[in-house]
Amino acid sequence: MSRTIFVLFALLAQTALFGQTDPWWKHAVIYEIYPRSFQDSNGDGMGDLNGITQRLDYLKDLGVDAIWIAPIYPSPQIDFGYDISDYQDIDKQYGTLADFDHLLAEANKRNIRIVMDAVMNHTSDKHPWFIESASSRTNPKSDWYIWHDGKGPGKPPNNWLSTFGHSAWQFTPARDQYYYHYFYIQQPDLNWRNPAVEKGMFDMLRFWLDRGVAGFRLDAVPTLFEDPSLQNEEVLGGTNKFGDPNEMTTLQENLPEVHGVIKRMRSMVNTFPGNRVLIGETYLPNVEELDKWYGGAKHDELQLPMDMQVGFEPKLDPKEFRQRINDAETKINGNQPLFVFDNHDNPRIDARYGDGVHDKAINKMLATILFTTRSTALMYYGDEIEMPTTEPTSKDQVKDPIGITGWPKEKGRDGERTPMQWNTSVSAGFSTNPHTWLPVAPDYKRVNVEVESKQPDSVFNWYKNLIALRRNNPALHDGTMKMLDIGNEQVLAWTRTAPTGEVVVVACSFSPTPQVVSLESALGAGKTAAILAVNGTQATSVSLKAISLSPYGSIIAQLK
Ligand code: NOJ
Repeated sequence: MSRTIFVLFALLAQTALFGQTDPWWKHAVIYEIYPRSFQDSNGDGMGDLNGITQRLDYLKDLGVDAIWIAPIYPSPQIDFGYDISDYQDIDKQYGTLADFDHLLAEANKRNIRIVMDAVMNHTSDKHPWFIESASSRTNPKSDWYIWHDGKGPGKPPNNWLSTFGHSAWQFTPARDQYYYHYFYIQQPDLNWRNPAVEKGMFDMLRFWLDRGVAGFRLDAVPTLFEDPSLQNEEVLGGTNKFGDPNEMTTLQENLPEVHGVIKRMRSMVNTFPGNRVLIGETYLPNVEELDKWYGGAKHDELQLPMDMQVGFEPKLDPKEFRQRINDAETKINGNQPLFVFDNHDNPRIDARYGDGVHDKAINKMLATILFTTRSTALMYYGDEIEMPTTEPTSKDQVKDPIGITGWPKEKGRDGERTPMQWNTSVSAGFSTNPHTWLPVAPDYKRVNVEVESKQPDSVFNWYKNLIALRRNNPALHDGTMKMLDIGNEQVLAWTRTAPTGEVVVVACSFSPTPQVVSLESALGAGKTAAILAVNGTQATSVSLKAISLSPYGSIIAQLK
């Protein structure tokens, strides 16, 4: 069988197997893999594609439907792969295209889909497009990047800043001009006003779709366009963690032009069979902006722009969570929410939400929100074992260039990218090499898959149970959602009601002290519910009159 026919067959077989009319991604658990850190198969201390293939049975057993792999293309690795020098190959450190095809075929056998990372705002400065573009003002690719004259010797075109620190403009003597880079200097922004750029990028997407990937996670997609007026950004006063003035970024991101590109991209992707999906890395200020990324009521843009409002909410405040989850229920035109609590760019859950005492319960509570609301679930490798954030302790240890530029206020993103902790052996089973690209977190003998899988009350087993419940319980699988007891300032509670009528009630405590909540008035006097999962007490049944929750406890129960 040719590769394309095999892949098509596998995608169609998956749809038939799930027997769904809904597209697969609507109920999916998507697992982000940071490939440098997941599994090393060749002992060089760095993860690779064959390592991921070795761990597919693990992912299957956990209940994962799709993996999103952070960039694996050839790259100078300044931004660890987000600086791509060839979009249609695999970086040697990760393997070959043949290894990729093997991974895809093995994943398909297990009904696990592969979502690629599509970095389209910028290329590497070593990409042939940029090398040509930078060589003169008259070459055929001269207009493929954002080039402008400065305001005089040593003076960039305006005050725009890079989100990775300092001016967003870099001077190139061969053109006597500046190019724009929203990220590192080595990541020049493409000029999306040039139709040839769109064509080049869409061809790249087609290359991977033809190979059989299930879709893309679109990197930094709100930054594709910049305001052509080049006016200065408004300065806000004070300085940021890089020592630069605080500024707005209104002219640098989320410009309306981007939606035209996304609509065309969606039309192109729709021509491929098997419900290919477009997921957006969409940090946006509010739900109204988020809705636009779906195409609102037209549903003709991304199927799954990430909703960062819930999982990156700065505080564990049930009122805020309720509001934001409700927004996703009621203000996105019936589109499918995608909640995210963690990724490779932010300190892990312990560092953002932990209190040092109840971290395990807090992790379980957030997992409860992720897996039992109506959202598609996106998780980050290691979340399932409560992997900690392990920041470098001195500047000379830092690998991520932002940490070098911003030390000590900005320590970079190494802390959330440490090797996956599989077991108690050398390098936590991530590598046979004791020298891994980032050090393994010191707690790996206690925090790892092997140890936690044997502990009934571990975060690992909580994840597994919730993922299985979400798949098998009709109310959690595709029930409607309704918030309960909406004035409660300690406990977030809601129901999921299946099309067939079963009702599951979920309650999560956001309090460090025990709570008792009554849901009787919302759900009926004298009612009881059978417990499906509980983090806290051991009873098998609960009266809705008085549901007891331990500190940061969660309960999931089906109404009798
Ligand atoms: C977002 C990615 O998640 C991040 O890791 C990267 O540094 C920037 N985009 C630039 O590509």
